[in-house]
Amino acid sequence: MNNLLKGKKGIIFGALNDKSIAWQAALKCYAQGAEFVLTNAPIAMRMGEINNLAAACGNAQIIPADVSKNEDMENLVAKSMEILGGKIDFVLHSVGMSLNIRKGKAYTDLDYKFMHDTIDISSMSFHRLMQTLMKHDAMNEWGSIIALTYIGAQRVFPDYHEMGDAKALLESYARSFGYHFGKQKKVRVNTISQSPTMTTAGSGVKGFGDFFDYADALSPLGNATADECADYIVLMFSDFSKKVTMQNLFHDGGFSFTGFSYDVFSLMEKRQDSAQ
Ligand SMILES: NC(=O)c1ccc[n+]([C@@H]2O[C@H](COP(=O)([O-])OP(=O)(O)OC[C@H]3O[C@@H](n4cnc5c(N)ncnc54)[C@H](O)[C@@H]3O)[C@@H](O)[C@H]2O)c1
Repeated sequence: MNNLLKGKKGIIFGALNDKSIAWQAALKCYAQGAEFVLTNAPIAMRMGEINNLAAACGNAQIIPADVSKNEDMENLVAKSMEILGGKIDFVLHSVGMSLNIRKGKAYTDLDYKFMHDTIDISSMSFHRLMQTLMKHDAMNEWGSIIALTYIGAQRVFPDYHEMGDAKALLESYARSFGYHFGKQKKVRVNTISQSPTMTTAGSGVKGFGDFFDYADALSPLGNATADECADYIVLMFSDFSKKVTMQNLFHDGGFSFTGFSYDVFSLMEKRQDSAQ
């Protein structure tokens, strides 16, 4: 343990099971000396797996909250401050869900009620969270807020579907709210754009295995794992990133800036051979 987060207090959203990026982040934050509250949608807690994580993180308290409900966010922030004994230093928003993908709708035939819910849960929730934190004056100076995103916000991955639009808005909130949080409270706000990762949310996207392999072959360093993402999150919560704000930070083994790789050709050839 290096105690990079010693004395820091936070809230971690979105640990569903041990594959979740948030799950790995919680373990790493705890190992680095942080104290935090865990939260997830009430429905996601039915399996009870989060209790195992809480036990592994010094019996962290769990507060159920649906990110699309104002009252849940109010309650979460107020109770977290009570439990942690004051203001908060870091928050991880690791939440995403597309109803249209889940219901098998084509991108050219979207249900707008579903789309509203997708954007409410996956994007607006980030604004709602930051607005609630600001209203409660819940963040310490030099605090750090992170949300997770994907390069489908900048480039078209057809099966990433409406999540590309939702992530574009999420990243925009990091810039727009990041300005105000920086000016008023010296709090930094960033998004981390992570490689495809084998999690429940990730595997819900059609053809996920194919674009996982494609990204791995194109990226000079290979795909970043959930565990490696957790390390980067720790760095972003630590005092070693104090002046980084309003950024979309690619954590993807170099995928975002690579135009060509022979490994992609080899992958295609292998696929063709096995199809024949
Ligand atoms: N897996 C990937 O390939 C990948 C790549 C880049 C970014 N991300 C992003 O990382 C984040 C975490 O996803 P993950 O891959 O760890 O998958 P995951 O399925 O483990 O986590 C998604 C979480 O969102 C929570 N959630 C959904 N609706 C909610 C609601 N209404 N209120 C509160 N919580 C709710 C789920 O319960 C779950 O814990 C998401 O924002 C996702 O888009 C994932």
